[in-house]
Amino acid sequence: MSAPSPFPLTPSHIPVIAIDGPSASGKGTVAQRVARQLGFHYLDSGALYRIVALAAERAGIEWGDGDSLATLAATLQIVFEGDDIFLHGENVSTVVRSEAMGKGASEVAVHQALRSQLLNVQQIFRREPGLVADGRDMGSVVFKDAEAKVFLTAGSQVRAERRYKQLIEKENHAILAHVLADIEARDARDKSRASAPLIQCDDALFLDTSQLTIDEAVEKVLQHYRHTN
Ligand code: DC
Repeated sequence: MSAPSPFPLTPSHIPVIAIDGPSASGKGTVAQRVARQLGFHYLDSGALYRIVALAAERAGIEWGDGDSLATLAATLQIVFEGDDIFLHGENVSTVVRSEAMGKGASEVAVHQALRSQLLNVQQIFRREPGLVADGRDMGSVVFKDAEAKVFLTAGSQVRAERRYKQLIEKENHAILAHVLADIEARDARDKSRASAPLIQCDDALFLDTSQLTIDEAVEKVLQHYRHTN
């Protein structure tokens, strides 16, 4: 009998909380706080697609060229350190979080070749004592066996207003109607693509945060996790 691998590919005993939802729903903030409270690791899967969009732009690769994007993704050295994101040693946190890279991420994310390339990269984040993963397909594809799944959303108008406020604080300029149009275009692309579209899993808790504070949303996710334990 061979010895068990020290690094099992699917360490399914390690708990995962999968939080999926549309852009600007607040899932990133909620997921990070839940992870902090539980002492779990945190995976911002959207950042991986954003980094690929950035690296492709720099390498002159079209966001529509799925095979080249997958090949490129295999060569990227990505490090997450607290809130900072490093690509080949360069701190790219600000540019990766820009609206342009959000749009680019949504465009590169339609390609199955790239999604397959990033699958294992994401699963490696499942480490002791647990993981909170945020994205679009955490519960439906990447961590199908997650202990707790949450579909976190808010009305598109509410999400546009939240994003608008962030942009005004950050860049001092934004037009609400444009922000809303961008969010709706991104929703449509993320929900209608053939590969791993944004869907609510049957076993996910539906959480509409339109009328909730961040603290209330965090508490609801924690309650759901405790309930499934
Ligand atoms: O969560 P975010 O805004 O950083 O995600 C940016 C884009 O990346 C999103 O519009 C779709 C894509 N994405 C994805 O397809 N699958 C994920 N698990 C996470 C993000």
